[in-house]
Amino acid sequence: MYRQNRIDMLYRKLLVIGVILVFVSLSVVAIRPPANEYKNLKVLPRNISSKDLNRIMVDEFNDDLGVTCNFCHAESKEPGSHKPDYASDEKPEKSIARAMMRMTLDLNKKYFKLKHPVLGTPTLEVTCNTCHNGQPHPNNAAGE
Ligand code: HEC
Ligand code: HEC
Repeated sequence: MYRQNRIDMLYRKLLVIGVILVFVSLSVVAIRPPANEYKNLKVLPRNISSKDLNRIMVDEFNDDLGVTCNFCHAESKEPGSHKPDYASDEKPEKSIARAMMRMTLDLNKKYFKLKHPVLGTPTLEVTCNTCHNGQPHPNNAAGE
């Protein structure tokens, strides 16, 4: 009788711990925010961190082309707002930049035999800067 009670207690404890574990894991899944809030990524990985995306936009695109964000990104259509709408594809420069991103990855893969080239990492042999070198139009040495 005494023994049976102890076994019952043990089962009850295990059941309580089990229920708690299920709740903890469910709430961890529920409160975890999405990896980022980006809506329109077609070349970069969709789950890219905001740190990695910003590094590519600032250190690669702005610096390598010698431009600022609005060279590729259109202004928001919201009345009174002059903020950039980063998800918009309105400016042709953004589409050209996407084609350039694909070309840059292909160059690394095909001609430099990199298996998994990733933009914004030092593994690349060819980057935007290889051709642009701080100019938006690399075919014009004077940058005019
Ligand atoms: C040379 C062109 C270029 C410049 C300059 C540039 N971007 Fe971008 N940006 C792009 C392209 C192209 C994409 C889309 C990438 C893709 O499709 O994977 C993008 C995507 C983004 C996104 C994701 C938007 C979404 O919701 O999908 C953000 C945010 C962003 N850029 C911010 C910036 C900021 C901030 C700057 C300046 C520091 C900047 N960009 C400069 C070309 C540019
Ligand atoms: C192999 C050389 C090369 C590489 C690598 C390269 N580009 Fe270009 N890019 C060019 C050339 C050449 C032009 C000029 C075309 C013209 O002026 O008609 C150009 C033009 C552009 C333009 C259009 C500028 C405008 O005002 O029309 C954008 C935007 C651009 N590149 C973005 C990029 C980005 C972003 C990268 C890196 C992901 C990159 N490019 C990598 C050669 C390159």
